[in-house]
Amino acid sequence: MSDFAARLRRATMVEHREAENRSFISRLMAGSVSREGFAALTAQYLHIYRELEAAALAMHADDRGRAFADPALFRVKALEADLAHLYGSHWETAVVPATATLAYVDRLRSFAHTSAPHFIAHHYVRYLGDLSGGQLVGKSVAQTYALGRAGTRFYSFDGIDDARTYKIAYRARLDALPLTPEEAETAIAEAQLAFRLNAAVFSELGTAYPEDVVSAA
Ligand code: HEM
Repeated sequence: MSDFAARLRRATMVEHREAENRSFISRLMAGSVSREGFAALTAQYLHIYRELEAAALAMHADDRGRAFADPALFRVKALEADLAHLYGSHWETAVVPATATLAYVDRLRSFAHTSAPHFIAHHYVRYLGDLSGGQLVGKSVAQTYALGRAGTRFYSFDGIDDARTYKIAYRARLDALPLTPEEAETAIAEAQLAFRLNAAVFSELGTAYPEDVVSAA
């Protein structure tokens, strides 16, 4: 066992705070992002998770990657259902990727399909985030946009009974990973980059969807 999970958390604290405090995310939590802005965020996630989950399927062939590629985490079906609710039946033509999203997807495509340290870094940043702060974001957006399950499925993990227990087991899996010191450094640097790629998406959305006062229906 190593202290890899604690190292990852420590090494990404600054990036975490920056992503959390990006004005788009703090405005989302404060209820001052338009419904269009929220729908656009969900659309960006579809592009990101399609690539991340394609990488997870490829990683089934890798002993270290396989331990993380748990289908209970998969978000693409939930995102498609949310987008159908938010945009209507023609949602597929509405989900346009932002420039920052294309850069994020490109990074995943280039590195996360074939390298376990890269895949695990990206996996950690998104899914452990979804099971942590993401749960608070989910509650907040459901309230802001007066949405029930429809439109916010992305934030609920039906196959996971208790997020806290899942995260403890996930961290144990990180600690048990057989990584060389160089691979551990690679994964840490990639997790920092993954946070910055997320932050860039939030920044672009922040510019595209400036301050708005949302009145719940
Ligand atoms: C409003 C925004 C956010 C809030 C309020 C928030 C809050 C939190 C909290 C309270 C934790 C600790 C949970 C625990 O110890 O079990 C956490 C962990 C985490 N968050 Fe966030 N977060 C936010 C945004 C984000 C974003 C945008 C990302 C990545 C894109 C992210 C990624 C993570 C990760 C990877 C962890 C796990 C840290 C670890 O235990 O190793 N969070 N978040």
